[in-house]
Amino acid sequence: MIAARIEQDVELRHLNTFHVGARAKFLATITEVEELRSVLQWQQQQQVPFMLIGQGSNILFKADYPGLIIELHTRGVEVVSETDTYIDVKVQAGEIWHDFVLHSLQQGWYGLENLSLIPGTVGAAPVQNIGAYGTEVKDSLLELDALELASGQLRRFDNADCHFNYRQSYFKQEGKDRFIICAVTFRLSRKSQPKIEYPALKAALAAVKPEHLTPQLVSDTVCAIRRSKLPDPGVIGNAGSFFWNPHIDQQQFLRLQQRYPELPGYADQDGVKIPAAWLIERAGWKGYREGDVGVHKDHALVLVNYGNATGAELVALSEKIQASVLDKFAIQLWPEVRIV
Ligand code: EPU
Repeated sequence: MIAARIEQDVELRHLNTFHVGARAKFLATITEVEELRSVLQWQQQQQVPFMLIGQGSNILFKADYPGLIIELHTRGVEVVSETDTYIDVKVQAGEIWHDFVLHSLQQGWYGLENLSLIPGTVGAAPVQNIGAYGTEVKDSLLELDALELASGQLRRFDNADCHFNYRQSYFKQEGKDRFIICAVTFRLSRKSQPKIEYPALKAALAAVKPEHLTPQLVSDTVCAIRRSKLPDPGVIGNAGSFFWNPHIDQQQFLRLQQRYPELPGYADQDGVKIPAAWLIERAGWKGYREGDVGVHKDHALVLVNYGNATGAELVALSEKIQASVLDKFAIQLWPEVRIV
């Protein structure tokens, strides 16, 4: 059996991008899948709960964690197959997402450029089907390998098995708490195929001639847009979008549009997706600050910790925002961030 190092009574402030203080009873740092198996056996003997943490970029600790936190630090990028048009590359779950995006661009492997600068790890990306600027991880994911907790076996899921949807996957629903994603295989293109239909991206690249439009330029532009409106978690604690963008039905959208003609909405097969940021801004919260918690001045969907806010204070602010949006627009917002 491979012994992994398990620390006790660990401060979590540096392990979450909100930088809220909380403590975990145990913390294990894993560098290979065999260690993961042995740590999970130990956790079962101890009869404590466990949770995985990647870069801590989508989590809010409301209280101390009474169990074992597992940090996956598995590393490795391996080409498993290639043709003249595409390349299949298997990436270990602990790799940092943005580092892998940059690596793939340097190698001339394309398809992930719109997902540049998203915080987090490769293993966490499929769980919530990360997405930005008109692309989602599901668009490039070929298959993944996940450890099944009940059997201790690695199981392979192809793209369809993952049941991807907007910020959703099998691993957040039926498969929740049953699997740990260990490696993800992407099918990337050798051919540059920039996707720039997302309005903010299209506007930023409007002056660029098609022959000058490269995946690297798209990546650089996405990074610049993100940096211009999303606060750097290294400077101000935050976890990106705090709420999901809600779906409402067409009738409710038309009713609201009569009162708010400028209400933005993106129609899809289920109804209309409304930017939660718009609702929060119109409810008066953008730039709001109360002690060390607030709503960022450049993006109303981002809750921030200006210093020593607690998780409970951030949750209390999020609940006030939910109540006010519900009251003003009759739309319920739900947190995208995992509250523990
Ligand atoms: N808007 C406002 N006020 C604001 C900001 C935005 O009214 O302060 C409105 C504008 O109408 C704008 C629209 O909201 O056109 C959309 O804003 P933005 O392009 O910034 O996107 P978003 O819907 O707020 C989503 C993702 C982001 C992702 C961007 C870009 C969700 C929950 N969030 O945000 O993902 O980067 O699109 O594709 O779907 C994240 O998940 O942490 C994240 C940052």
